[in-house]
Amino acid sequence: MTTKINFNGEIHDELNISVMDHGFLFGDSVYEVVSTLNSKLCFLDEHLDRLYNSAEAISIKIPCDKEWFREQLNNTLLAAGNKESYVRIIVTRGVGEINIDPSSCEHPNVILMVMDVTEYPKSCYEKGIQVALVSIKRNPRDSLNPNVKTGNYLNNVLAKMEANKLGAQDAIMVNPWGFLTEGTTSNLFFVREGHILTPSLDCGILSGITRLLVIELAKENGFHVEEGKWLGEELSTADEIFLTGTLKKVMPVSYLDGRPVGSGKPGPITLNLLRLYEDFLTKKA
Ligand code: PDD
Repeated sequence: MTTKINFNGEIHDELNISVMDHGFLFGDSVYEVVSTLNSKLCFLDEHLDRLYNSAEAISIKIPCDKEWFREQLNNTLLAAGNKESYVRIIVTRGVGEINIDPSSCEHPNVILMVMDVTEYPKSCYEKGIQVALVSIKRNPRDSLNPNVKTGNYLNNVLAKMEANKLGAQDAIMVNPWGFLTEGTTSNLFFVREGHILTPSLDCGILSGITRLLVIELAKENGFHVEEGKWLGEELSTADEIFLTGTLKKVMPVSYLDGRPVGSGKPGPITLNLLRLYEDFLTKKA
C-alpha cells in the first residue's frame, strides 16, 4: 500500500508543490486516470493521446514525449510495488505570477501519482448504484469543453454534491439545452427496448476510453447502439442505465431520482456488457 509521486522525473514519497503553480491557483492543468491489470497499465496509448490532445486544446506544451511517460510510469510503478495501482498523470501550467495570465508560466510541471487502488465494492456491481439527475448543468462545448480533460472539475464537484444531498451516489448532468450528457467522472448509457443509447459527443461529454470500447464490444456482439441526443426526462423511461469509466468499468445504475430503474436491479444487457468488458481486459493483460 505505497504511494509514489514522480515530479518531473524524480520519484518521491510525498510532494510539496508551489502554491504559485497555476494548476493549484486556477485548475489550469490537464490529467488522466489510468488503472492497471496484473500490474500493467490499461489503455496507456489511448490515455496519453487524450492527455496530449487536452494539453493542446488549452495550449499547454507538454515538455516530454510519450516514451518518457512510458519509462517514468514504469519506474514509478516499480518503486511503489503495489499489486494493482491507481495512476494519475497530471500536467500543470507551471509556476507563474499570481494573476490569471498564463504567459508568466514558462515550465509546465509533470506529476505521476501511483497509489494503491481502491476498487468499487462488489456490492455496487451486484445491486447497482443510485444516481440523481441534478440541476447543475454540464459545461457547454464553447465554454470549458467537457472533451478536454482539465484539472478544473468544479462543475462536476457541484453536481456530485447535489446528488449526495439527494441521497444518490452520483449525478447525471444535462447540458444547458436540457440534453443528457454524462456522470461526474463517467459516461452515461441507457437501454430502451433492447437498444443501447448513449449521448453523442456533440452533447458535450468527455470521449471516454471505456465508452468507446463498450460501444465496440456491444456492436461486435450484435447489439444496436445509438449515439444521439435525448432530453433529461427521457432517462426515466429507460429499462436499464449504466455508467462507464476507467475506475467504474461498467457500473449498473438501479435507482434514478429515488425510483427503480426497470426491476431496480442491474439489467441483463448491463451485466452482459460488464462481462464482455472484463473478459476483454483479462485477455489483453
Ligand atoms: N474520469 N466523463 C468524465 C467527466 C470523466 O472524468 C471520465 C473519467 C469519464 C470516463 O472516461 P474513461 O472511460 O476514459 O475513464 C467520462 C476519471 C476516471 C477520473 O477523473 O477519475
